[in-house]
Amino acid sequence: MSAAPIRVGVIGLGTVGQGVLRLLKDNAAEIARRVGRPLLVTHAAARDPAKPRDCDLSGVSVVTDPMTVAREADVDIVVELIGGISPARELIEAAVGRGKPVVTANKALLAEDGNRVFAAARRGGVSIAFEAAVAGGIPVIKAIREGLAGNRIERLAGIINGTCNYILTQMQEKGQSFADALRDAQRLGYAEADPTFDIEGLDAAHKLTILASIAFGMPLDAGSVTTEGITRVTPQDIQIAQVFGYRIKLLGIAKRGDAGVELRVHPTLVPETSLLAKVDGVLNSVLVRGNAVGEVGLYGRGAGGDATASAVIADLVDLARGLGADPSHAVPALAFQPDAVQPLPVLPMSAIASAFYLRLKVADEAGVLSKLTAILAAHEISVEAILQREPQGNEDAHVALITSVVRQERFDHALVEMLRLPFVREGAACLRVEKFD
Ligand code: NDP
Ligand code: HSE
Repeated sequence: MSAAPIRVGVIGLGTVGQGVLRLLKDNAAEIARRVGRPLLVTHAAARDPAKPRDCDLSGVSVVTDPMTVAREADVDIVVELIGGISPARELIEAAVGRGKPVVTANKALLAEDGNRVFAAARRGGVSIAFEAAVAGGIPVIKAIREGLAGNRIERLAGIINGTCNYILTQMQEKGQSFADALRDAQRLGYAEADPTFDIEGLDAAHKLTILASIAFGMPLDAGSVTTEGITRVTPQDIQIAQVFGYRIKLLGIAKRGDAGVELRVHPTLVPETSLLAKVDGVLNSVLVRGNAVGEVGLYGRGAGGDATASAVIADLVDLARGLGADPSHAVPALAFQPDAVQPLPVLPMSAIASAFYLRLKVADEAGVLSKLTAILAAHEISVEAILQREPQGNEDAHVALITSVVRQERFDHALVEMLRLPFVREGAACLRVEKFD
């Protein structure tokens, strides 16, 4: 390959940044054959340039000021891998303002401020590529934005946070504690710099924001996703769900109906025979339903240095191939032409129907089940499964049940009445159940 290399500046040499450098080196010949020219990292930035890194930095100028990389005249493409809103946003805006295309894995920035950042890229006549921002190494952005462009997308649902899926799997399969499983996920490089983003569902909400935008052609609006994380999921609920024939997974769900869109992230019971129930550990999966193609499923590693580097480099290859091309011919960042992106009404949770899993702590006395089911029946909610657990040690007795599909509003009215019953000590857990059939 005799053509001059394309010069890449990498801002951030953490889990993903090091993965990118390793993979660019290991697969250099294969990548150059795809691009037509080699990709060479010439500049990089990190907070501590002296820190040992698990990648070869020979020939790379490593600085502490990331803005010098974003503005560097001898860099053709900038890769932003520091995460967070600021200074990542200013760095990307500086790069695109100088006509440099950018690759980023920063879902927090795109979900919170993507409309602004993409507008800056359009002004600069360049693209921002972000395959790594959703579901790690799975090419889900390209699949939805380009591969499904002939469809009206009706729904997508998936496991889109590797850390949470790893924690839930470890709790279920190995009986590991939440805290220990989270520590392992951090050690393995899956978790965000602040892991609250993972376990409170915010990272999944950021990813769902991006997916909904490219699926439905709506502007990015992270605030429109109702979000609940996994911190209140107990080993007991995992075990009872299993008895009922379900697994608990943190799902991101986006559905489009006549009244508006549902955008929600929450722990969900899924039947143990479903595809999503079988997605374990750091693996992610996204199911997309298009009106022509039907159901499409994507599956793979959702976090970690090498898997995420795979997606970053796919974007680098795309941008490298397009260097110097007419920007009006580029694939629109959010799949729809910018002037065709339109807000859609987002439905409140009270209007959303699903089945529910409910666990109540109750006094150990006669008539508990019949009084609970009588309230549900009065609200026209049927019970699909019910289980009563005797008190264990000092613990109260528990009743757990799964309802038929019902709007949350109606379920909430029944729940209020159940919680008023004198033998009910506490509403211990309430989760949605989704079957996707
Ligand atoms: P890390 O925390 O491992 O790495 C961040 C890197 O950025 C570090 O090298 C750090 O320097 C550097 N850095 C941070 N702030 C600055 C600054 N102001 N100036 C210069 N350098 C800075 O993060 P990850 O690699 O895990 O994640 C990077 C991005 O990729 C994030 O947006 C994340 O959400 C996203 N992502 C991560 C995935 C993963 O599996 N980890 C998967 C998909 C996306 P130093 O090392 O010296 O401290
Ligand atoms: N912290 C994220 C996760 C990284 O666990 O899924 C991948 O985006």
